[in-house]
Amino acid sequence: MARSERRLAESTSVAEPLRRLGYDSDTDWAWDNYKASVLALVEHCREAGRTGADGLVRALEIGGGRTPLLTADEARAAGVAYTVNDISDRELALAPAEFAKARFDVAGDIGSAEAGGYDLVFSKMVLEHVRDARQAWRNTAMLLAPGGFALAFHPALYSPVFVLNRMLPESLSAPLLRFFMPYRHDEDSPKFPAYYDLCRAKASLVEPALKDAGFSEVLCAPFWGCVYFRKLPGLRELSAAFCALAEARDWRLVADYAYTIAKK
Ligand SMILES: C[S@@+](CC[C@H](N)C(=O)[O-])C[C@H]1O[C@@H](n2cnc3c(N)ncnc32)[C@H](O)[C@@H]1O
Repeated sequence: MARSERRLAESTSVAEPLRRLGYDSDTDWAWDNYKASVLALVEHCREAGRTGADGLVRALEIGGGRTPLLTADEARAAGVAYTVNDISDRELALAPAEFAKARFDVAGDIGSAEAGGYDLVFSKMVLEHVRDARQAWRNTAMLLAPGGFALAFHPALYSPVFVLNRMLPESLSAPLLRFFMPYRHDEDSPKFPAYYDLCRAKASLVEPALKDAGFSEVLCAPFWGCVYFRKLPGLRELSAAFCALAEARDWRLVADYAYTIAKK
C-alpha cells in the first residue's frame, strides 16, 4: 500500500527488513510479524557482515523474562547467539535454560563490560515499563557494536486506551486489563506499571533523544488498531472506525503501537 511505503521511506537502511516482509500498518500485522521482523534484522546483520567471530549474530532480548521471543531451536536455526535480559531474577529463572541470562535494569547503571558486545538488541512490550527511556536507549547504543541495530515493539501515546492506562491508578487498571484479557493474571502474564516514556509512533518525536544516545538512523513504524475493545460490540466498531480514519490520515499521535528501529 502506498501509505505503508511512504511510512517506510522515512528511513533508508533500517526500513529494508520490514519492506521485505510486506509491512502493513494494522496492529494485527505488528503482533503476527514481530518474530519475523526480528529474524529479518538478524539476516540484515549477517548480510552486512555484522556478526561475532564465530559467525553468529549476537542478539540480546531486553525484558525477555519467562517468555523470550525465540525458542532455542529457532535461535539455533537462525544462527543467533541469544542472551535474555530481565530486571527480575524471578522472570529469568523461568526463562529457558538453553539461553545465556543477563540480569540488569536496562535504564540503570550497567557499566561498560559488555560494550559493543551485541549486533542486535530488541524488546517486546518492555519500553513502556521503563521510567527513563533516554537512559535505556543510551545503554542500548553502548551495548551495540558499530552498525548494530535496535528494535523495540511498544504501545504508543496518545492512543486513547494507553492514555487511560497511564492516567488510572494500578488498582483500577489491573482489574480492567483482566476483564478485557482474562489470561493477564500474575501467575502467567503479570501486569507491570507503564510510563510510556519515549513510546511514540512518530520519528521526529524520538529521533533527537535516540541520536543523542548514539544512533545514526531512526524509523518509527506506526500501527493502528486497538485489541482491547474487540469483545465489546458497539465500542469495537467505534474503535475500528476511528483507527481506520487515523490510519488513512496518518494521525501518528493516536497510533496504538510502533516498532522503533534504530541503527548505531
Ligand atoms: C510486559 S512483560 C513482557 C515480557 C516479554 N517481552 C513478552 O513480550 O512476553 C515486561 C518485561 O520487562 C521486564 N522489565 C521491566 N522493566 C525492565 C527494565 N527496566 N529492564 C529490564 N527488564 C525490565 C519485566 O520484568 C518483564 O519481564
